Amino acid sequence: DKTEQIPGPPGYPLVGNALSIDRETPLSTWEGWADQYGEIFRVTLPQGTVVIVSSQRLVHELCDEKRFHKPVRGALQEIRNAVHDGLFTAREDEPSWGIAHRILMPAFGPASIQGMFDEMHEVASQLALKWARHGADADIMVTDDFTRLTLDTLALCAMDFRFNSYYHDDLHPFINAMAGFLTESGARALRPGLVSVFFREANRKYWDDIEVLRRTAQGVLDSRRKHPTGRRDLLAAMLEGIDPKTGQKLSDASIIDNLITFLIAGHETTSGLLSFAFCQLIKHPAAYRKAQEEVDRVVGSGPIRVEHMKKLPYIAAVLRETLRLCPTIPVIARRANEDTVIGGKYAVPKGQSFLLLLARSHVDPAVYGESARGFVPERMLDDNFERLMKEYPDCWKPFGIGMRACIGRPFAWQEAMLVMTMLLQNFDFALSDPSYELRYKQTLTTKPKDFYMRATLRHGLT
Ligand code: HEM
Repeated sequence: DKTEQIPGPPGYPLVGNALSIDRETPLSTWEGWADQYGEIFRVTLPQGTVVIVSSQRLVHELCDEKRFHKPVRGALQEIRNAVHDGLFTAREDEPSWGIAHRILMPAFGPASIQGMFDEMHEVASQLALKWARHGADADIMVTDDFTRLTLDTLALCAMDFRFNSYYHDDLHPFINAMAGFLTESGARALRPGLVSVFFREANRKYWDDIEVLRRTAQGVLDSRRKHPTGRRDLLAAMLEGIDPKTGQKLSDASIIDNLITFLIAGHETTSGLLSFAFCQLIKHPAAYRKAQEEVDRVVGSGPIRVEHMKKLPYIAAVLRETLRLCPTIPVIARRANEDTVIGGKYAVPKGQSFLLLLARSHVDPAVYGESARGFVPERMLDDNFERLMKEYPDCWKPFGIGMRACIGRPFAWQEAMLVMTMLLQNFDFALSDPSYELRYKQTLTTKPKDFYMRATLRHGLT
């Protein structure tokens, strides 16, 4: 094995290090090993050797798109069962990625995203209304309510489809199918191939869930064809867009792949960000006060408008600092294009798999100094942020790398800015359990575990 000289935990024959990995939060195992073995270590899993890096210096090296690419394996490979070569799960050599990317990029431009503001506002208001009605003594299951918000927002803004999660106690069948599908995709990725034949019931439900996802998306597509509108949303771009390079349009199958892809890729991550942001603010009263003061000063008690979004630098810094300490995608996979040398001394073969441990590289003391693990939004104010990114490239990577970075970033950003602003404007928040300490729940993304808060109206709802 060419990677032998890289340090790492000793493994057992056949299974390697697989049995040492915490099933619920693999992240905690990676972090423990990073403490023990340092900025680069290797682990042996049944599917091969993986090299894990956790410093800004090495993450920066692995972000080089000439030497490394995004592999599609593990849970991503399983997600392909529903969305095939859609944007998120397409392999490097699949032409469908380039076609969809070029057709859809303009739909994420500034004018297009600003055009979605009113619909984002509408869904956020539904959430605020719910919390106001439930009153100051109700314990809010934060991650659940934010997940309803982000799914409803995406479906409404992107394809004019209403899940109406706040009007029903039962979630829409699509939402249950999506949750079941994502959990099972993660589980299947950890199951050796032969064993999977013993999971007949799980397999049946898995394929049924996929059927619900695809049927719902087909329904959205059919309905738009039957009732054309002047809306300039994502679905319109998918239906009408022509790839400038190949002259091709998206096929119906590809539209369905990508509609589901956006719903999958665009909800848990933003919901996790909002949940972590409130958790951090409540835990850091000085930052909380500054954030609320900024909202009061810039927006006051009147309606929030799209122009406000550029005038709230402290809220933006809170979101950046939250994604630094709690990246909702905490690990990013890479693979070597050719035989190469890492960190100036470790030879690795072509095809070598890597994991970039953002949860660690984001708190690298060489970049962030002694306060690396503290919540300090000030370091993420626009000028400081720009300086950091210039001096230490790739020191903050929550939205991924290069060509395969997040296409939905401007969407997520506007949504998160708006929701933070609206909630801080209208409520005071406190932990349900004052002794709560942040814990992680890890599925495909991470969120705070068992995080409940209470919301007291500051004045009438705006
Ligand atoms: C890709 C993070 C919100 C759609 C990615 C990747 C990351 C990421 C790290 C790269 C994954 C990889 O290398 O495998 C986030 C975070 C978000 C967020 C932290 C919120 C705070 C969204 C939203 C949408 C979206 C709202 C949809 C509107 C996508 C898509 C891709 C992607 C389609 C695949 C892009 C490609 O490979 O071409 N995201 N995302 N994301 N994201 Fe996001």
